[in-house]
Amino acid sequence: MVEVGPRDGLQNEPEAVATPAKRELIARLAAAGLRRIEVTSFVSPKWIPQLADADALAASLPAHPGVTYSALVPNERGYARFRAAGGATVAATFISASETHNRKNVNCSVAEQLERMRPVLERAAVDGVPVRAYVSTVCGCPYEGAVAVGAVVKLARALLDGGASEISLGDTIGVGHPAQVRDLVHAVAAEMPLERIALHLHDTYGRALANVQAGFEAGIRSFDAAVGGLGGCPYAPGASGNVATEDVVALFEREGVETGVDLAALVDAAAWLEHEVLKRPLPGRVYRAESGRRARERGEST
Ligand code: HMG
Ligand code: MG
Repeated sequence: MVEVGPRDGLQNEPEAVATPAKRELIARLAAAGLRRIEVTSFVSPKWIPQLADADALAASLPAHPGVTYSALVPNERGYARFRAAGGATVAATFISASETHNRKNVNCSVAEQLERMRPVLERAAVDGVPVRAYVSTVCGCPYEGAVAVGAVVKLARALLDGGASEISLGDTIGVGHPAQVRDLVHAVAAEMPLERIALHLHDTYGRALANVQAGFEAGIRSFDAAVGGLGGCPYAPGASGNVATEDVVALFEREGVETGVDLAALVDAAAWLEHEVLKRPLPGRVYRAESGRRARERGEST
């Protein structure tokens, strides 16, 4: 499990969450057993003001043995900030498979973004920093509609050849369906080992969990998810949250697949986030069911 709530989730909240609350959320997620947590983005604070505290947050992350923190890095400037801040040890670059979303998201063409990523990958190789590379809009683009599988495969291959350690395939707007995810995984896996591929699935149409299952059956073992089902890309209109981490953990638990995550602790972290920080209902299904069940056990009507 790669927990992306503090980054993908909080980048999409209407108000910036205070730095100490972000730190506590990360500590609660680590305590629940999540071992890979994406904490923030070293992007322009004008573009994503919710994560403008990236430098201060990364410099003060809770120390937790065995936990690896990653952060988004769009360009060399972001990489320099990431290195100066410390804390996060994995850089996560990103690019879209469709031109228009890439332009809206990072203000340049796909070819230009590949050029911006090149020096980041080179410097990371020298520094011994692993780079996770997102390819977005793999199942469809909010502006262009269908996206060719070939475009995704080509980018994934180029990023792996450039030194990325893992390629995370992003269904940014949640339009994918199980057969599509399976075919996509097979197409990318023809170019690289399955262990190098992760899935990053948003849940706009309620299919993210089915897509996780399809990805698992196709051999994927690395899944991005956000606590409570938070998230969305501010430059992808209509996109909703990521698949909820609790929903994926609960599904795998039932299927006998070990995730290392304590579901009850994760539900508690989501409840804390809902009641103490965001003060609005979270979309995650298992979280809603579990918090309702617990309230009934306490004799509260829900
Ligand atoms: P730009 O405007 O094209 O860049 O932004 P620029 O080089 O022309 O610089 C313009 C200004 O930004 C300058 O400041 C730079 O100094 C500054 P000004 O002179 O105007 O004051 N700047 C920076 N400041 C801080 N950190 C930096 C940095 N770089 C430039 N690293 C840029 C290009 C990429 C920076 C901008 O477009 C940006 O920040 N975009 C944000 C994109 C973003 O964070 N989107 C959401 C995350 S992606 C996502 O959610 C998808 C994902 O989850 C997977 C999926 O779901 O598919 C990963
Ligand atoms: Mg995303």
